[in-house]
Amino acid sequence: MEQELMRIGVSLPESLLNRFDGIIEKRGYSSRSEGIRDAIRNYIIHYEWMSDVKGDRIGIISMVYSHHQRGLVDSLTNIQHEFVGTIQSTLHIHLDKDNCLEIVTLRGEGQVVREAAEKMMALKGVKHVKLTTTSVGTEL
Ligand code: NI
Repeated sequence: MEQELMRIGVSLPESLLNRFDGIIEKRGYSSRSEGIRDAIRNYIIHYEWMSDVKGDRIGIISMVYSHHQRGLVDSLTNIQHEFVGTIQSTLHIHLDKDNCLEIVTLRGEGQVVREAAEKMMALKGVKHVKLTTTSVGTEL
């Protein structure tokens, strides 16, 4: 059944929109709306996948952030201490004058791994973050 389409208004930085438009043109989308619908579907699928992470899991979080963002480095440190039993190691790389890459490896109950990742993802000033998980191998 064809669903009724809802119209929404979205405010976003021009540079972000230009990059998005560049990608949807390259990928051959018929319209910006179709590209946005696809991006929202992927966002939902990713969130639902994250909600389903269960059991003994290895998690790898990679995040890029500006270390100038007020309070971000402190908040990140606090979260890492809060999950000290789950976090196995962190690797910090200074990418340039402004940006840092942090790679965090975790092991624990999937829901705890996800909770730690979500807390880090929600920090203001984080530009990009990705969580991947894998099994510890015992059930394979
Ligand atoms: Ni750094």
